[in-house]
Amino acid sequence: MRDTLIINGRLSAEVLEQNLAAEIAAAQAKPFLAVVLVGHNDASEVYVRNKRNRCLKAGIACEIFRLDENVAESELLSLIDDLNANPVVNGIIVQLPLPLEFDVQKILARVSPAKDVDGFHPLNAGLLASGFGGGFVPATPLGVMRLLKENNVELCGKHAVVIGASVIVGRPLAALLLNQGCSVSVVHDKTVDIETITAEADILVAACGCPKLVKKDWIKEGAVVIDVGINRDGGKLCGDVDFEALCGKASVLTPVPGGVGPMTIAMLLENTWAAYKQQHNL
Ligand code: GUN
Repeated sequence: MRDTLIINGRLSAEVLEQNLAAEIAAAQAKPFLAVVLVGHNDASEVYVRNKRNRCLKAGIACEIFRLDENVAESELLSLIDDLNANPVVNGIIVQLPLPLEFDVQKILARVSPAKDVDGFHPLNAGLLASGFGGGFVPATPLGVMRLLKENNVELCGKHAVVIGASVIVGRPLAALLLNQGCSVSVVHDKTVDIETITAEADILVAACGCPKLVKKDWIKEGAVVIDVGINRDGGKLCGDVDFEALCGKASVLTPVPGGVGPMTIAMLLENTWAAYKQQHNL
């Protein structure tokens, strides 16, 4: 059995946020994040509360704009227009998922690209996918890349396999890994024989929302395994990876909770600070 390095994402996020708080305080700045929350979703309520608390701790103002689930699309678009036009607001996120009736792409495309700290606007997504860079990058993939870097995981020339092709994680993460010199395979729910592909991965990222999907025989000896999943198994939180089974076979592994999750918020705060600086020519 090999030793598996278990990454402590909580600690990394704490250090990042402390540094960010110090930088914001030194600049005597007051960045502002607007969070748009439509309808009621228990998981979104928890995420949004955590985002707000961590913003406030870092010296970032955060206001949650709540809209009823039956709100007209025009009213939601008009709120986004107001936030876009308000010079006090530096970053805007529309918490996902939206209730099913909404045209998600239309709504995400309405956020000003300069305030799109989620990186979901097609302009920012295109800058990333094309390799041009310079736009905002979604927080969860950024958090994954930061953990890989902090733990000195070599990327150039490696085979990375991403499970899941979502706009929030899988697609932008595949682009980031490709931009760092990985050969990238993206597998998803239509992929035939997923486990033969994952077994070839030097770096495996699971972001599909399937509790404990990745089993011991899905990975090769010494693979780096990053678990983005946040699922409930009974009452208990678990990831997309069978954590206990992979300990002793993976070289590096992230836990759930306490791995990628805390890094997502840290990266959102960094994006909000970056938006503030861009808007103030700092
Ligand atoms: N829902 C789950 N993750 C995210 C995220 O990173 N941003 C937003 N806006 N919604 C989410």
